[in-house]
Amino acid sequence: MSEASARAHPNIALAKYWGKRSSSLNLPAVGSLSLTLAGMETRTSVAFRDDLDADRIELDGAPASEAIRRRISAFLDLIRQEGGTQRRALVRSSNDFPTGAGLASSASGFAALALSAATAAGLELSPNRLSELARRGSGSAPRSLYGGWVRMHRGDQESGADAIATPLHPESHWDLSMLIAITTEHSKSQGSTDGMNLTRDTSPFYDAWIDQSEPLLAAMTSAIASRDLAAVGALMEASCLRMHAVMLSADPGIIYWNPATVAAIERVRELRSSGLACYFTIDAGPQVKVLCEAANAPAISTALADAPGVLRIITTQPGPGAELINE
Ligand code: DP6
Repeated sequence: MSEASARAHPNIALAKYWGKRSSSLNLPAVGSLSLTLAGMETRTSVAFRDDLDADRIELDGAPASEAIRRRISAFLDLIRQEGGTQRRALVRSSNDFPTGAGLASSASGFAALALSAATAAGLELSPNRLSELARRGSGSAPRSLYGGWVRMHRGDQESGADAIATPLHPESHWDLSMLIAITTEHSKSQGSTDGMNLTRDTSPFYDAWIDQSEPLLAAMTSAIASRDLAAVGALMEASCLRMHAVMLSADPGIIYWNPATVAAIERVRELRSSGLACYFTIDAGPQVKVLCEAANAPAISTALADAPGVLRIITTQPGPGAELINE
């Protein structure tokens, strides 16, 4: 087969990845733990063709920018190398959610691309090998290969063979919702890769960020296993705020938040003190994601939508891993 299509869902890290121990193989400096989300998806099709002299990349129906084209072509080179082919590809990808605004589009994007491109090239990869490949595209992408609760390992090997994702629990493990408060529809100013490198190179708090990550991951893993929302929520907020603290302490400081981001955080804290359990996390963008019991999602969504500057709420649930589809 020289053509294949796949879909993948974004994931949100409850324990964050920020920093690389190697840029060339995109090896993370810390492990992370995420929840894959149903309710938003990326669909990607890849066709390797004899009649193309350059890769052609279409995102949401339009030609990709030069920067994105280069990043995707570099990823396709890895696939071509592994599959022993020189053929260029036509890649068509679409998201049903805002791209590049801190909604993990690179995670679902590279998970769907890794699966469709590897299949189109006729590669028969083990799940761990596919994970390694997806990681070369984006460090959070291996997590979107699996459904539900997923651990991404920092790994120790120079080769990156153990810097892979492994599933912890399926999506049926826990009936939670993740609400996403959209505070702007615009793309973010600084991508994660540049932000991580700047943080590593300039923050005086970078080593402290690295040191706290494994104990937090261990505590969160057991809190998820026992479905302890208060414990997971507290650890999730700690991981988020520590990550943003290390970003803020880079030089120049990286600020992904806007006023509505802060208003949504305040609303979450108010809801919690009124007895509704909910917890926030924020990635490399201004949107606020809120974790709660599924039964409480409608009430929390209404209260969040009313926070100053919040434009709309997307409701998501634990979702499945990446899969091949017929397009
Ligand atoms: C803040 O996976 O986008 O969302 O590996 O450079 O592509 P690259 O970075 P990326 O970073 C995600 C950062 C984060 C936290 C997380 O998802 O763990």
